[in-house]
Amino acid sequence: MASRPLTSVFLILLVGSVTDSSAAFDPIIRFPTTRTMTVDSRSNSDGEGLYCASWHLAAETNNAGAWTQIPSRCFSYFKYYMTGKRYDSDCEVVANFSLSFASTVQMDPDGKDAWIFDIDEALLTNLPYYMDHGFGSEVFNESCWDEWVALAKAPAIPSSLNLYNALKQMGFKIFVLTGRGEHQRQDTSKNLELAGYAGWEGLILRGASDVGIPATVYKSERRSVLVNEGYRIHGSTGDQWSDLLGFAVAKRSFKLPNPMYYIP
Ligand SMILES: *[C@@H]1O[C@H](CO)[C@@H](O)[C@H](O)[C@H]1NC(C)=O
Ligand SMILES: *[C@@H]1O[C@H](CO)[C@@H](O)[C@H](O)[C@H]1NC(C)=O
Repeated sequence: MASRPLTSVFLILLVGSVTDSSAAFDPIIRFPTTRTMTVDSRSNSDGEGLYCASWHLAAETNNAGAWTQIPSRCFSYFKYYMTGKRYDSDCEVVANFSLSFASTVQMDPDGKDAWIFDIDEALLTNLPYYMDHGFGSEVFNESCWDEWVALAKAPAIPSSLNLYNALKQMGFKIFVLTGRGEHQRQDTSKNLELAGYAGWEGLILRGASDVGIPATVYKSERRSVLVNEGYRIHGSTGDQWSDLLGFAVAKRSFKLPNPMYYIP
């Protein structure tokens, strides 16, 4: 069951590694117009950048398993990764693969063809928050995070918003399945709307009975409910493996990058 999501991630990472190796083998003659790229190129070819790129790959593929903080020596690397062009590009590639797959789905007029999206680092980016909190180098502070959520100011990931709208247009029923709590429903739907999202079929948050349950179990249980209601879950989009693995998994899972935090 896990082999399908792994396949899609592998493809994405292959695309990523091609970009990395071309950066590592920079031509000797450098034109002035490529100067803006030198920070990225250098951080990818020196020892530190090489280590951090490898650490990143291990984290995204789940080879790293559970981790709580990025290596402190990789702070600059992930700052450039998240705030430069690479993060957006990586997300866009995932969205494009998602759309290619979606266009092969034989839609049924019964209206039960579904797609699941996670919220944080999937539909919305919390980059403004993490820019103030060390890009994953600080220990998670729940009260700080809750204050940020209440602001409802997280922007959309542009490629996710495009994907979301395209899927809706194609007739997929969209379910938003998040680890955020039921008490954050109002702020969360407000944030989604402000970021441009509309017309979801369901917004599923952790209820009181879900407290303390690992994300993989909570999300699987909620997908199970949808399957029992007759939905066919074709695709699932999340930044965490716990969004994608477990039971009642989607036919195809799409793993977005997130080197800032890991949710088991
Ligand atoms: C994603 O697909 C769009 C539309 O086909 C294309 O313009 C864009 O270049 C693709 N992006 C990437 C990063 O491959
Ligand atoms: C978490 O953040 C709050 C402010 O939002 C602060 O008062 C508190 O000291 C922080 N806790 C830790 C452990 O850093």
